[in-house]
This record gives sequence, C-alpha cells and structure tokens, in this order.
Amino acid sequence: MVEKPAVNPAAQPLNLAEYHLLAKAKLPAMVYGYYASGADDEQTLRDNEDAFRRLRFRPRVLIDVSRVDMTKQVMGIDLSFPLMVAPTAMQRMAHPEGELATARAVARIGTVMGLSSWATTSLEDVAAHVPGLPKFFQLYVYKDRAITERLVRRAERAGFRAIALTVDTPQLGRREADIRNQFQLPPHLSLANFSDMKDFAEVKGGAGASGLASYVASLIDASLNWNDIAWLKSITRLPILLKGVVTAEDAQRALQYGADGIWVSNHGARQLDGVTATVDCLEEVVQAARGRIPVFIDSGVRRGTDVLKALALGADAVLIGRPIVWGLAVDGEEGVYRLLSLLKDEFKLAMQLCGCQKVSDIRRELVVRDAFAPYDVRQMLSVKMPSKL
Ligand code: FNR
Ligand code: LAC
Repeated sequence: MVEKPAVNPAAQPLNLAEYHLLAKAKLPAMVYGYYASGADDEQTLRDNEDAFRRLRFRPRVLIDVSRVDMTKQVMGIDLSFPLMVAPTAMQRMAHPEGELATARAVARIGTVMGLSSWATTSLEDVAAHVPGLPKFFQLYVYKDRAITERLVRRAERAGFRAIALTVDTPQLGRREADIRNQFQLPPHLSLANFSDMKDFAEVKGGAGASGLASYVASLIDASLNWNDIAWLKSITRLPILLKGVVTAEDAQRALQYGADGIWVSNHGARQLDGVTATVDCLEEVVQAARGRIPVFIDSGVRRGTDVLKALALGADAVLIGRPIVWGLAVDGEEGVYRLLSLLKDEFKLAMQLCGCQKVSDIRRELVVRDAFAPYDVRQMLSVKMPSKL
C-alpha cells in the first residue's frame, strides 16, 4: 500500500509567483499596494526579474552530482545555501506574528535575516525570541544622530552581526499606490524600534502625498555622504555593508572608505525608476570590489536558477525581499519556511543540472547574456578558436 504524504504537494503553492498571487488575494489593498509597488512606472520593477530571464546557462554534463554541497560561508556565518532575507518594513501588516514568524523560519532553514529599522517588532524582541538566528540590522541615518547611534548600540548589544546601511534612500521613491491608498501604518501597529519615541513610532497619513514618503522625508538625513561612513565606523565595531550600491565607481569608493561589504540593490525598484536591473550591474561591482570584500545582490530573485546566475556573475550570496512578505501573508512562519525550502530545492536542482557539486564550482562561464555570442565564449575559455567558427 502506498502511504499518502501528510501534505498534498499539488495543493500547495509550487513557486514564488504562486505565493505572490495567494498573498495578493488575502491582503487588504492598501497593504498589498505598499508591499508590491515599485516607483513611478515600475520599469525597473519589471526589469529586475526580466534581466535574470535574459541570462542563459552553459551547463556542464557527466559530473557526479549525486551529492551536492549548497553551503556557503559569508562573513564568518554558515548559510545552508547562499540566500539570505532582505529587510522589509512593517511585517506585522502581513501576519500578526510578523518579524518573529520570519525570524523563526529563517533560523530553521539556516540563513541570515535582515531586520528593517522600520520593523513592527523591536530588534530586542527578535533577538530574544529566536536566539540562534544570525541577523543583520538595516540602518537609516536620521537627522538626529543621537537616535541613530542609540539604534546601532542596541543592535550591537542584541547580537546583530552587521549593520546594513541603506544608501539609496535620501528620500523615499514615489510609489503611486501609496499615494492613491493614502497609506498609513494600521493603528494597532507601531515602528517598534522607536517605541520610546512616540513621534517616531507612528506613521501618520499625510494629505495629498503618501503619508509614508513625507514621514520618511522628515526623519531621514538626506545629507548623508561618504564622510559619514567614517563616523559610522567610529561608533561601532560591527561590519558595515552598503546596501544600494549599483556602480563600479561607488564600489571603488566603498573599498576606499572601508566598507566591509557591498550589497547591490535597487531597493526592489522602489526608489529610482529606470535604474539598471541589479543583475545587469552586478559584474561591474564585482570587478571593482576585486574580491576584497563580499558582494551581495537583491532585487528580482525569484527562482533557484536566479540564485545560480547571480553567483556565476560573482555574487557571494543573494537576498529576497517581497517573497518573504508573500510567504508570511499566506501562512506565517510555515509560509516563509516553505517558500525558502522551495527556493533551496530549486537551487539544488539547478546546481545538479549545471554540473556543480559545490558552490565554488559555480563559475563565470556558466552563464551567457546572449546565447549566440561566440565572442564572449571565446573570451571566457581564453583559448583560440578556429577562425571559421
Ligand atoms: C523594502 N526594502 C527595504 N530596504 C531597506 O533598506 N529598509 C527597509 O525598511 C525596507 N523595507 C522594504 C519594504 C518592502 C515592502 C519592500 C518590498 C522592500 C528593500 C528590500 O530590503 C530589498 O532591497 C528588496 O525588497 C529586494 O527586492 P525584491 O526581492 O523585493 O525584488
Ligand atoms: C520601503 C522603505 C521603508 O521601501 O524602505 O518602503
């Protein structure tokens, strides 16, 4: 007799796109609009995913892939596979357990969680409830530097492993859904990292514009510049990752100013519309970083094959933002865990089908931008091909 599996896999979402659809059906329009939207015409939002699709594999065959090692170490942290969770604000709008549910799922799968400054659960609560979880604290620099410094110290005390300084948000991008829906944080929630400062903790709706955008503008220091990296380094021993670098020029500066890692991101296309898809600018950043500091990438990663492509182009690890919120909306901790498991399984299969036994086997020559580009292939193999080819 064949035993029935406990959960019928055919009745579960099969991929991240299906999680997105289910979440859309469940969430109130204002909340969905906030999570899903990109800036302006959402050109970059579409391109972030399309750019991954434009890349093609050059798989190798006849390699023993009966065992595959997906583990990867980043900044001294062991990941069960090279994917981490990007910080997304206000997760309790998606599920009552919000950031705690995400934290538990991330700990179970064995990777890193990025916690937003603008979380609806305090950084101390996340640390206390999920003690073994490796986590990065995402930082915005506020006009009031004393508030900023206090946050950094709290993150240090709570055992966060790095500060991810967001550098692409001197102002919030223009997200039209938030304007139309007059986005506000639901009244039963607050920005828990600021609960001791009532003015900070409540995102109030603004007349006409998005309440969130005017609120951010009133708090975030738009004068933040390269010299402030030295200030940040002077107040913390934690490694500093620059989240939102998308050019070789800025990657060079990141090295020069002593950053400990570069996080290639366009904020999930929520800031500058029309900026290049991250996977299209990854290589120039990787080359500029010259292997001195790790390079991470987010924005548009939706499949295990996308993880493989980003690693082939030189990323040390990738991160996902919106999909986590979709997993939360669908089924809280279980939803996030299952979604991460799907990605992990997809990544394993992609490695096997490409002939990669371990993460360090994922090399540049595994992908091409244009499947019919013999010149690129010749360069990659660094051999002379017969001129007739
Ligand atoms: C974000 N992101 C973000 N980034 C950040 O530095 N601080 C934050 O508070 C937030 N909040 C946030 C909320 C929501 C709803 C989204 C969708 C995104 C950006 C996030 O860290 C990441 O860069 C992108 O989400 C990655 O793109 P994908 O995976 O969503 O395409
Ligand atoms: C956002 C901010 C909070 O993208 O980072 O909504």
